[in-house]
Amino acid sequence: MANKIIITIDGWSSCGKSTLARQLAGKLGYTYIDSGAMYRAITLYFLRNHVDWTDNSEVDAALKNIGIEFRFNEKVQQSEIYLNGENVEYVIRDLVIAEKVSDVAAIAAVRSFAVAQQQKLGEQKGIVMDGRDIGTTVFPHAELKIFMTADIAVRVERRFKEFVEKNPNVTLEEVKNNLEMRDYIDSHREVSPLRKASDAIVLDNTNLNMEEQLEIALNLVNELL
Ligand code: CDP
Repeated sequence: MANKIIITIDGWSSCGKSTLARQLAGKLGYTYIDSGAMYRAITLYFLRNHVDWTDNSEVDAALKNIGIEFRFNEKVQQSEIYLNGENVEYVIRDLVIAEKVSDVAAIAAVRSFAVAQQQKLGEQKGIVMDGRDIGTTVFPHAELKIFMTADIAVRVERRFKEFVEKNPNVTLEEVKNNLEMRDYIDSHREVSPLRKASDAIVLDNTNLNMEEQLEIALNLVNELL
């Protein structure tokens, strides 16, 4: 395909954005960037280093010491996130991080730090990026914007299944509370709140399987290329 485009996928917590983004990137030979992983990695750094993120000067000083990169792991055919050279792809998925990430992601300095890197990653186009503000703030001129949604019960069930494999002590209630809390904070924060971009196409995958959602998204891409 000659013309490489930018595809943004935004939406609520755990509604399958990263699954679709990864599938699309694989099919199109594009790079997949999980912007949420960046906020999770920053949160991990803050927690490990006891950064008081209510103090702007502490946040600014800490951000200077954070280096984030994505490297492609051939073995699992997936790009993974590195925090100061350490692969943190798996530890950042922990509920301990999920409990704090939305507070950290609401901080203006944290967002400018992450958004600058995200925009740089998109300079060459040929990218699929998922998150909360990708179609509104990071790439407002993206060629294709998808806004994903799914019923809360389905989202909770999906995330719970992922969690219990790693941690059998996690309850459905905890997962539900976390998703609802993040959705609330993410859509009510001052800087770049979670919103559907006016030109985004809504994809509700409550009743779709992975193949069906991919087919819908690929049709949208093909209309543009
Ligand atoms: O995969 P899941 O839906 O659990 O969330 P994620 O994409 O890993 O994002 C984790 C958190 O990072 C979100 O709840 C937001 O608080 C924040 N985030 C954001 O503020 N902006 C983005 N572009 C991506 C994530």
